[in-house]
Amino acid sequence: MTEKLLSTDHQIRFDPPADLAAAANVTAEAYARAASDLEGFWAEQAERLTWAEPFTEVLDWSDAPRARWFADGKLNAAYNCVDRHVEAGRGDQVAFHFVGEPGDTRDITYADLKDEVCRAANALTALGVGSGDLVAIYLPMIPEAIVAMLACARIGATHTVVFGGFSAEALASRIEDCRAKLVITSDGGYRRGGPSALKPAVDAALARLGSQSPVDHVLVVRRTGEYVPFDDATDLWWHDAVDSASPEHIPEAFDAEHPLYVMYSSGTTGKPKGILHTTGGYLTGAAYTHHAVFDLKPDTDVYWCTADIGWVTGHSYIVYGPLANGVTQVLYEGTPDSPHRGRWWEIIEKYGVTLFYTAPTAIRTFMKWGREIPDEYDLTSLRLLGSVGEPINPEAYLWYRDVIGGDRCPVVDTWWQTETGQMMISPLPGVTAGKPGSAMRPLPGIGADVVDEEGRSVPNGSSGYLVLTKPWPAMLRTLWQDDDRFVETYWTRFADLGYYFAGDGAKRDEDGDIWILGRVDDVMNVSGHRLSTSEIESALVSHPRVAEAAVVGAADETTGQAVVAYVILRSGDGNTGEALVQELRNHVAREIGAIAKPRQITIVPELPKTRSGKIMRRLLRDVAEGRDVGDTTTLSDPSVMALIAEG
Ligand code: PRX
Repeated sequence: MTEKLLSTDHQIRFDPPADLAAAANVTAEAYARAASDLEGFWAEQAERLTWAEPFTEVLDWSDAPRARWFADGKLNAAYNCVDRHVEAGRGDQVAFHFVGEPGDTRDITYADLKDEVCRAANALTALGVGSGDLVAIYLPMIPEAIVAMLACARIGATHTVVFGGFSAEALASRIEDCRAKLVITSDGGYRRGGPSALKPAVDAALARLGSQSPVDHVLVVRRTGEYVPFDDATDLWWHDAVDSASPEHIPEAFDAEHPLYVMYSSGTTGKPKGILHTTGGYLTGAAYTHHAVFDLKPDTDVYWCTADIGWVTGHSYIVYGPLANGVTQVLYEGTPDSPHRGRWWEIIEKYGVTLFYTAPTAIRTFMKWGREIPDEYDLTSLRLLGSVGEPINPEAYLWYRDVIGGDRCPVVDTWWQTETGQMMISPLPGVTAGKPGSAMRPLPGIGADVVDEEGRSVPNGSSGYLVLTKPWPAMLRTLWQDDDRFVETYWTRFADLGYYFAGDGAKRDEDGDIWILGRVDDVMNVSGHRLSTSEIESALVSHPRVAEAAVVGAADETTGQAVVAYVILRSGDGNTGEALVQELRNHVAREIGAIAKPRQITIVPELPKTRSGKIMRRLLRDVAEGRDVGDTTTLSDPSVMALIAEG
């Protein structure tokens, strides 16, 4: 059992286990190395990859904040993730233990993966897709999702994966924004004990785009076997197009700055941002951090990240980082409670998972279900646990460490974002102590600080804004077709200092360790998913009965934050009361996706506004969280709050 120590400000601290520290991939020396020669440090990490043409320049920051990393080098991301492991004689190693929700399983070796990726690359080429084209991927958590991403990377097509839980509307706006030429989808996938259709949402998205649709073809994986409408002019089955294609394909080398993918993420306005990641720097950042933070030993570890590939965690820590490192991993299609609430622990026991990466919201759900469930399984194979996506409260951290980790596994709380592409603030398991609730220190090579309004570093014991002070290899390069918004969103707040503004508040404790406090903008974090208040407000006002809407994120015991909406109605016919509230909740699910459904909608006669007409969300958050609303003197009509509280 690890000794529990109290830090200077009396927080619990867990020092690294001695055996892990003794054999750790990365030691404290890495911090010193990166501090003395940042570019040299990242150049060494880039050597983890196989370059078709070596780079001579590490970082070009002359056009800051637009970075170019390893720019004159060339490489192929898919070759790095697949072929080179086969060439190194590791073709028989399992890349994925796939577990379907209904219980079907498939082990896919690196050799199998290579054949599949090559076939898919040939099939995409035959469909006229090539370097510079955009491909939208809208798939469940099945192996073909990963094959599709790697096939795109292999031929230089840029992918944009859209989370399968997003609606047809959300899919349409993303397809339109990036002008995707091809959509790869499936008839459906298995979720919560049954088939759940996907292809109809693609059909609806394309119908919505009509003659403006940039899409030439839809490639459809058969997963559930349920009937789906098929348009022979555009639609093709994956098994027809891919299975018959040749498993031979010579990968072309692309520039390090070739666009690898665009990932849409919510910002403070209604329109999602297309975050662009490129190839060489991104792969370096993802592979290095995966190796360092998980202390990855590719020959013996079995790794499982429970994220969906529709989010950045799936991109960096299921696909690109882990595969570049040649690890064996688990890929699970379904939900944790299907067919029973011990499903995840059963999978860990069956495959001997050693490294496990999940989100606090899942941990809090398991806490609610009770420790008797995981206690029924043998989880002794685990040696390290990771957390991502939202602040982990100390109770959840301690439960995770104790109940899942047997009080033996360190927990790495990893802070990063879609924009950062790679983990930025996290303990190194062989070096840094773990403190429940703290992401601890910036990783080697990463500059992070907590600053005040003027950008001055705050003293220990104080809070402020989280900023990143140095460029890093996996950083976003721009926002797709919106470079002005890129500069405005991240680089203007502390422009004089050249800092990246993360949008999070943070505290530095008496030891100098960082605690992430949550977003300081109008972005919510619901179950580790990023949602924008204004995007949901736009969805609500697109309903004919809604005149005005205000959305806030209110604290929620399980999901971290929950969506709470206040709406003013237009007069009109139709549902009223609870029936209307249900109708509005479903409307939001249709417009954005079920994840954005408000937990609560209150119909109100007025919204609290300042004299200049700005909605005071702080007051609504106070009401939603049951607090006294305090000072309302800046409201144009202070009596409004009484009316809302009654609502
Ligand atoms: O608020 C922070 C929170 O999630 C945001 C990034 O969301 P997204 O781009 O969707 O990426 C999620 C997966 C990397 C951050 O601005 N966040 C992420 N990780 C943590 C976190 N908050 C606290 N602790 C974390 N470990």
